[in-house]
Amino acid sequence: MKINPAVTQLSLYDIVGTPGVAADISHINSKAKVQGFAGPESLGEALKGCHLVIIPAGLPRKPGMTRDDLFKANASIVRDLIKACGEHCPKAVLNIISNPVNSTVPIAAEILKDMGVYDKNKLMGVTTLDVVRARTFYAEKTGAPVADVDVPVIGGHAGQTILPLFSQASPGHSMPEDVIAALTQRTQDGGTEVVQAKAGKGSATLSMAYAGALFADACLRGLNGEPNVKEYAYVQSNVVSGLSFFSTKVKLGPEGIAGISEYGTLNSVEQKALDACVPELKSSIEKGVAFAQGKV
Ligand code: LMR
Repeated sequence: MKINPAVTQLSLYDIVGTPGVAADISHINSKAKVQGFAGPESLGEALKGCHLVIIPAGLPRKPGMTRDDLFKANASIVRDLIKACGEHCPKAVLNIISNPVNSTVPIAAEILKDMGVYDKNKLMGVTTLDVVRARTFYAEKTGAPVADVDVPVIGGHAGQTILPLFSQASPGHSMPEDVIAALTQRTQDGGTEVVQAKAGKGSATLSMAYAGALFADACLRGLNGEPNVKEYAYVQSNVVSGLSFFSTKVKLGPEGIAGISEYGTLNSVEQKALDACVPELKSSIEKGVAFAQGKV
């Protein structure tokens, strides 16, 4: 974000260690002014005046854990950060990276509703890394130049709720079903692949930073009035009946989300996968809502 030309002020917040990170990053010769804020008492100051807030806070997975296993630790972290956003920058676009995204985004919505400042067009769960992974793996498999590859990824951001639509990938390439199944599995397990490789030392940080910055850049371009900016994101949606949050391609505009796309035609395998993940998504959403309403 320091090298993003749309950024004038970059406020870095964490409970500890931020002054060092801020000093380090501030030496990059780009126009954004950098300030570091450490500790809860400085959170309000960090958020004041922000147009966009990116929230990657929370504990990472260890091998063997699902993203949902992080709920206990991360739900309250997200709740408290969102409360501060609702108080200090209620009109900001919010990008939620903290896992489990399938639940933390509904938590954020409930908290903001409770504060009377919820705008469904300003709240987005970041699923860009799933798209980035699907593009990488598809390009590797097909030999297509990776810069030309596009793969829609819909659903949510955990396990089987991550639904890459290789039938709609471009450039189109016909592949046997077992190859598509393996590509789908690898995309769904992308985060786990990194968690295992890091062997207890965390989850994806570098590729996630790339994907998070890509998505944030799209939000900023939309806020600045660039037409036709579109990215996948997990947002309040009625694209799938019975699910209040779902990821499809969204249009980003001066007020945040300016439109939500349908997911197009699925083949029978993809339709089955979508049907199969609906109960998990539904229960992750309900779990987040119940937590935010103080019921768990
Ligand atoms: C990812 O997709 O890499 C992140 O959600 C982190 C994780 O736990 O997998």
